[in-house]
Amino acid sequence: MNLCGKSLISLKDYTPAEIRYFLDVAKKAKDEHKRGIRKQRFLGMTIALLFEKRSTRTRCSFETAFGEEGGHPVFLSSADIQLGVKETVEDTAHVLGRMFDCIEFRGFKTRHVEILSEVSGIPVINGLSDDFHPTQVLADLMTLEEHFGALKGKKLAFVGDGRNNMANSLMIGCAKMGVDVAIVAPDELHPESDLVKLAEGFAKEAGSTVLITSDVDAGIKGADVIYTDVWASMGEEAKLAERIKLLKPYQVNADLMARTGKKSVFMHCLPAVRNNEVTPEVIDGPQSVVWDEAENRKWTIKSVMLCLLGKENE
Ligand code: CP
Ligand code: NVA
Repeated sequence: MNLCGKSLISLKDYTPAEIRYFLDVAKKAKDEHKRGIRKQRFLGMTIALLFEKRSTRTRCSFETAFGEEGGHPVFLSSADIQLGVKETVEDTAHVLGRMFDCIEFRGFKTRHVEILSEVSGIPVINGLSDDFHPTQVLADLMTLEEHFGALKGKKLAFVGDGRNNMANSLMIGCAKMGVDVAIVAPDELHPESDLVKLAEGFAKEAGSTVLITSDVDAGIKGADVIYTDVWASMGEEAKLAERIKLLKPYQVNADLMARTGKKSVFMHCLPAVRNNEVTPEVIDGPQSVVWDEAENRKWTIKSVMLCLLGKENE
């Protein structure tokens, strides 16, 4: 598999075999690191880490994964650079493309990630936009596979804001990898129909299913994984009061977990707001795998950087 030079904007643009490859490289990177093997595959290389929004896991994953392989990550928040104040995305892309080997961008507009990729001439990785969070879904798939041994035939129910970046990306990633996916959300918060159609097409090819429903019991029935995310994503804080009203019946609590009919695991991309989208008894309880999921951000992000920079076989 040769993914060298590509960008990762959404998993829409990757085949199931390519996603499989990212997961295999991540597994190997994690295993080697645990066995004390240290490599220097990014020695002499640089990555620009652009953050318009806050981050703990994503930033730390990029910095530690790139740095421990000998590379030099440069963190640039909106408070540090000209982008968005005195300079366009295009001009920033020209400059970064001349100085760096790779760019990570976390921000609002997905179009900005696309422009960075089109103009810079180097691989660009979407570290979260309003629409997508592809590196998170790679970590989620890795965690699911570690827990259940396989992806195909498993069912993941995302319960909450069904039109946010996580719901969108899980729908695509799961559909492609043969995981049945249900988006369980009130009618007002269902994903865009074009994206649903796209996911349904991917699911058909992979032999999986996509269900969009406002009926909690119908959506969570038989789910191996219950997944949720914050009710107001970064940039939507003003909508929180309205969302709390809409989403209260969709809170993931012990009662909901008991109604799947299975011994389901609980997943959350984090950060979490306890007693909104999830109760402490669930996120801090025995069914939760959120810390494995958080750790796997690092190994999947390392894998993406290795593959896009053509270093995974060194
Ligand atoms: N899950 C995730 O992207 O976390 P951060 O916002 O902390 O990066
Ligand atoms: N939907 C959340 C995900 C955070 C990792 C947000 O965009 O804020």
